[in-house]
Amino acid sequence: MNTKYPILKSIQFGPYELPNRVAMAPLTRRRAGAGGVPTAMNALYYAQRASAGLIMAEASPISQQATGYPDVPGIYTQKQIEGWKLVTDAVHEKGGRIFLQLWHVGRFSHNDFQPGGKPPVAPSAVPFRGRQINTGKNGYQETPIPLALTKPEIKSIIGDYWQAAKNAMEAGFDGVELHAANGYLIDQFLNDISNHRTDEYGGSFGNRYRFLAEVLDTLCSVWGSDRVGVRLAPGGGSLGMRDSDPLGLFAYVISRLNEFNLAYLSILQQWFDVENYPQELKNLTPYFRKFYDGLLITNHGFDFAQANKMIEEGYADMVAFGKWYISNPDLVERFAIGAPITEPDPDTFYGGNETGYTDYPIWDRT
Ligand SMILES: Cc1cc2nc3c(=O)[nH]c(=O)nc-3n(C[C@H](O)[C@H](O)[C@H](O)COP(=O)(O)O)c2cc1C
Repeated sequence: MNTKYPILKSIQFGPYELPNRVAMAPLTRRRAGAGGVPTAMNALYYAQRASAGLIMAEASPISQQATGYPDVPGIYTQKQIEGWKLVTDAVHEKGGRIFLQLWHVGRFSHNDFQPGGKPPVAPSAVPFRGRQINTGKNGYQETPIPLALTKPEIKSIIGDYWQAAKNAMEAGFDGVELHAANGYLIDQFLNDISNHRTDEYGGSFGNRYRFLAEVLDTLCSVWGSDRVGVRLAPGGGSLGMRDSDPLGLFAYVISRLNEFNLAYLSILQQWFDVENYPQELKNLTPYFRKFYDGLLITNHGFDFAQANKMIEEGYADMVAFGKWYISNPDLVERFAIGAPITEPDPDTFYGGNETGYTDYPIWDRT
């Protein structure tokens, strides 16, 4: 696009040329069909948003064990693959690009979701006690004490990621994003509040980073590194995440990620005001940018002017928008013409039908 706004300019993104630098952030909407199978309604929702430079589709469990929410779409059965094909075809027909976010919730699950009704798994037997978990049919429950993963079980989960990456390719995605943010399994390995292991997966930064690196290795073996991204949330706070040295930990992790030559690193600039957390995390994109050489996407609460500024100042290459993409399917067009932005209704974020999902209108100029 011929524009003065950096976020509306095209960008080379792995093997793809994207028409703009606006990404749709991954958004769990809990509207999949039975068996976690994406539906025609989900396809319509994503196709409506296909003018985004990149769509990061919602977090999708790589196995039943990886699941911790009702009604989310999975990427581990043939029916789910077929359902996702509806989505990717619809987005591609509109000229869009779509990556799938691969998800394992780790300890943030419940026996009700788990194969054989067993407790969920985690790096260590440390439960999350911040809030109850929605188990669907049995309502809100305490999260159980998780089972600490054995080394063979860790290898088996890496195998699940490999299979999910293959499945995502069969389903027609343009790439995959590893969900390593927001207090789920990989984040639980990174942060020392939830990782108390004494083997090579715990202790030093390098050991706590090992699982993330091994999963990225397997994803890159399927897709090639230029079609794999990763999402981190160094600010902590989500689902009890906290580290004794978050600045040191994430500087280490982000520096090591350079070795992969990934399509991108996406970082969440979320500030939860975790007790005694370093103030640098309030505005963490500039802080961590200096450790990363590749394409960087930032996100959290940016408006159009702030997003352009992040790119102009070299702190990010793209900016992702979450809530605004719920209520503005034509967000890119609205940015381009300076149209007003519609705020979303939080009551329809999760679950339900077309209301608050596919019925947000495009801006009518007339
Ligand atoms: C309804 C909802 C669902 C979300 N689901 C996911 C998800 O599946 N994966 C993820 O990494 N982040 C998820 N997030 C976080 C968003 O991707 C994004 O980081 C957050 O909304 C902040 O960006 P914003 O201020 O532009 O909305 C979700 C947020 C919301 C509001």
